[in-house]
Amino acid sequence: MNYKPVQILSLGMSVPDTVITNDDLTKILDTSDEWISTRTGIKQRHIANGNENSTLFGVNAALDAMKKSGIEGIEVDAIIVASSNPYNIYPSTACVIQDAIGAKNAIAFDITVACTGMIYALEIGRSMIATGKYKNVLLVATDTNSKFLDWTDRGSCVLFGDGAGAILISKAQDGVDDILALNVNANGSMGKFITMNLTGDNCPLVEPATEGCHKITMNGKEVYKFVVQTMPESIMKCLEDAKLEPKDVDYLVPHQANLRIIEGLQNRLEFSDDKVIVNIDKYGNTSAASVPIVLTEGIQSGKIKTPSVAILCAFGAGMAWGSAVVRLREGLK
Ligand code: UT7
Repeated sequence: MNYKPVQILSLGMSVPDTVITNDDLTKILDTSDEWISTRTGIKQRHIANGNENSTLFGVNAALDAMKKSGIEGIEVDAIIVASSNPYNIYPSTACVIQDAIGAKNAIAFDITVACTGMIYALEIGRSMIATGKYKNVLLVATDTNSKFLDWTDRGSCVLFGDGAGAILISKAQDGVDDILALNVNANGSMGKFITMNLTGDNCPLVEPATEGCHKITMNGKEVYKFVVQTMPESIMKCLEDAKLEPKDVDYLVPHQANLRIIEGLQNRLEFSDDKVIVNIDKYGNTSAASVPIVLTEGIQSGKIKTPSVAILCAFGAGMAWGSAVVRLREGLK
């Protein structure tokens, strides 16, 4: 096949205005700023209010990326939305975004890969562009975890926040590929360690309605052990595929799940602090939105300079995980 290279055109993000600090959480939980900060690096998170949902933030992140790209909605060929807690199962969030940005020529669908959603979306989107059939593909990741947390479980609810991020990719006109390497993985045998069930109710003629449990559960210790083993391997494999050494890379832009996990990756890569992009202190773990939010904010704040090469990486429920080595072109916003 005559592979079509991919350009990363623009980025976008959107988060709720409402901020909940660690101290706020002590009003409803037996916890402390000291415990949360030292174990995770989180100081606060943005949380949706009653009128806000994943669709709203997804639309806003998509509009942000579209505005910066110079591409009209009508020119978008596909929209892929990664979300583990969409407001609707259908219409899909992608279809709502299609309407909101006027992308009436685009196919639109959602995927569920929890925190690794954006890396999977990038794999699917770039494969679609590679075929030559699709030119502009909008990737959006949006999660409002706060609506599905068990707010009595201090081991999980303090970790997550809400928000959305977007990446618009396109067939590279100059033939230069911005995706230097990308790998995604899954291990379903580890699925029990992070769950969110949508049990539904049986037909009443079959058996009485049961109480469903639609809350996130997590065995943090098992997830931690799994991640510190697999994530460095995934990153090193990706670098090898890209024929690069860690020293050839400018930035690590990791999933923001736990500062200790990020520091472990930093040590493995022997990166100085300025090469590791972190905003977990402000947003907590925003699941699939985490990587595009930290990437967008890193560029906006000037922490990430362009042109440069960055490692994106994420892991989460499934278990699923993945890494990408990408080129961030001069002027990317
Ligand atoms: O994107 C999804 C991927 N998820 C992750 O990456 C999560 C990975 N795991 C982690 O980040 C860590 O395992 C946690 C931050 C979730 C937990 O840290 P830990 O060091 O593994 O703590 P632990 O679960 O072993 O709990 C230690 C203690 C326990 O008390 P005892 O039994 O020692 O008395 C917990 O009950 O800390 C207690 N604890 C808390 N205390 C205050 C748990 N949560 C809290 C809390 N505040 N929020």
